[in-house]
Amino acid sequence: MKPSLLLPQLLLLAPSSLAQTTTPTYDAVIVGGGLSGLGAAKALSEAGKTFVVLEARDRVGGRVLNHALAAGGYTEVGAEFVGETQDQVLALAAELGLGLYPEYNTGNNVLYHRGERTTYASTPVPPVDALSTTQVLAVIGSINALVAGVDVENPWNSTLAEHWDKQTFDQWLQPFLLTESARFLIEAAIETVFSVEPDELSLLYALSYVAAAGNETTQGSFNRLISIDDGGAQQWRVDGGTQLLAIRLAEKLGSDNVRLSAPVRSIAKTTEEEELESYTVTLKDGTAVQGAHVIVAMSPPLARQITYEPALPEARDQLTAQMRMGAIGKAIAVYETAWWREAEHGSLTGQAVSDAGLARSTFDQSLREGHEPPVGALMTFLEADQMREYDNKTEAEITDQVGQDFAAYFGDDAVADVKEWGGPTAVAGPGIYTNYGPALRQRVGNLHFAGTESSDYWIGYMDGALRSGYRAATEIIER
Ligand SMILES: Cc1cc2nc3c(=O)[nH]c(=O)nc-3n(C[C@H](O)[C@H](O)[C@H](O)COP(=O)(O)OP(=O)(O)OC[C@H]3O[C@@H](n4cnc5c(N)ncnc54)[C@H](O)[C@@H]3O)c2cc1C
Ligand SMILES: *[C@@H]1O[C@H](CO)[C@@H](O)[C@H](O)[C@H]1NC(C)=O
Ligand SMILES: *[C@@H]1O[C@H](CO)[C@@H](O)[C@H](O)[C@H]1NC(C)=O
Ligand SMILES: *[C@@H]1O[C@H](CO)[C@@H](O)[C@H](O)[C@H]1NC(C)=O
Repeated sequence: MKPSLLLPQLLLLAPSSLAQTTTPTYDAVIVGGGLSGLGAAKALSEAGKTFVVLEARDRVGGRVLNHALAAGGYTEVGAEFVGETQDQVLALAAELGLGLYPEYNTGNNVLYHRGERTTYASTPVPPVDALSTTQVLAVIGSINALVAGVDVENPWNSTLAEHWDKQTFDQWLQPFLLTESARFLIEAAIETVFSVEPDELSLLYALSYVAAAGNETTQGSFNRLISIDDGGAQQWRVDGGTQLLAIRLAEKLGSDNVRLSAPVRSIAKTTEEEELESYTVTLKDGTAVQGAHVIVAMSPPLARQITYEPALPEARDQLTAQMRMGAIGKAIAVYETAWWREAEHGSLTGQAVSDAGLARSTFDQSLREGHEPPVGALMTFLEADQMREYDNKTEAEITDQVGQDFAAYFGDDAVADVKEWGGPTAVAGPGIYTNYGPALRQRVGNLHFAGTESSDYWIGYMDGALRSGYRAATEIIER
């Protein structure tokens, strides 16, 4: 008897064990290995639940990514900063043994406005005329005052939600009759925070995002979003790079439980009975896993690319269709030292705000004092319209333009190593939050939604990603 003929018969004899090996059953299948998915996995693991994380790419971290430099060291092309009230990301860094160091913020900033370069010591507003300064402070004060009226957990429930969601952030700014200088500074700040222009944001969404820049005991404020010192969101850096948060967390979870290069194509409910509800999660290569629960841990626009059976409720469908990613890129110029900090170069912080060129908002992205090898780096966000312009240019053209911008601000014609990157967070225009907001995190049966966009605090940040993952895990653990 030929041995090969035995095979089908053996399979027939043991169908259940075969099913087990090809479609194992987990308490939860987590789709997405960014910080939200890994955070959910951590919480489930601690609660003794079985889980698997399915990550499409060949690495964990999603929007956090270290980039190794040819001369040694690394730079961060995704998320970079952490700050006070970002309690979950700070706790995770400590738990994983990752140190923090302060973002460099000593010396003079650069204002580049109407072709003129001015340096100034740290002040709340860059040095423009007195009327413009007053207007900028008035706008920030008004935003902070409105934020007090936002229901952080359910922004669409805020008393003025309907009113706010009918207008864009830009429409709300109009009556301030801002001078050209005030408008330039306000827009620069908004673009740095949201990566979109003010006319792309609903006022409700913008206010909820500001309200989220705090924690349960500290009210969010616009100031925290844009500052380094005094508890700003840009206060600290993670030694070793933010991607270590994801890499070390994944190591703790175990490689068997975090599967890379595992893009999910569809999520189908396999049983109808409430208690026995389970899902078949199918990868692009056709293999499948089974879970009693599924957590979709990514931004709404990405979640839309997965096929759901049965189709998701209308609100969730519309939400994922209508929210869109901001446009952000980073261009990073790497040097052997942080030379701009030296007195002979003007004792510069590395921060510039500009109304020209591609680089409109820059930061010092050097590695910590004493890092071997030393890495000096200047980084600019390429935001919104500038980033979209980037799509039409060659990398050489971008490098060239950013190099020229840096030379104009910092006095050196360094070549920038340009990294392109997707949006930092998905944003909402008018009408989306009041109509579909609850669908950001409203579970559908045993299908749960995580991702930084679905957080209460620190929407759009690493901290929010972790909070959303922990919340989704709690929905499963508490059941
Ligand atoms: C340039 C840039 C700068 C930033 N700066 C900061 C900062 O300084 N500080 C800060 O706190 N935050 C910053 N952020 C934001 C921060 O990176 C994000 O908020 C956070 O990392 C989001 O985590 P997440 O898990 O919600 O989503 P993601 O990180 O996007 O994770 C989603 C994961 O799902 C995977 N995935 C998608 N589809 C599928 C599929 N079908 N099957 C399987 N897997 C799939 C993706 O590959 C990805 O790994 C920045 C972001 C960018 C882009
Ligand atoms: C909120 O942040 C502040 C400042 O970092 C901190 O002192 C406080 O403990 C945090 N609150 C909570 C509930 O974690
Ligand atoms: C990019 O190029 C396309 C086609 O040439 C053009 O329609 C579009 O307006 C350009 N976008 C920007 C932002 O310059
Ligand atoms: C607030 O929103 C939640 C979820 O969207 C909803 O369940 C709740 O009833 C709302 N609460 C109030 C007071 O409107």
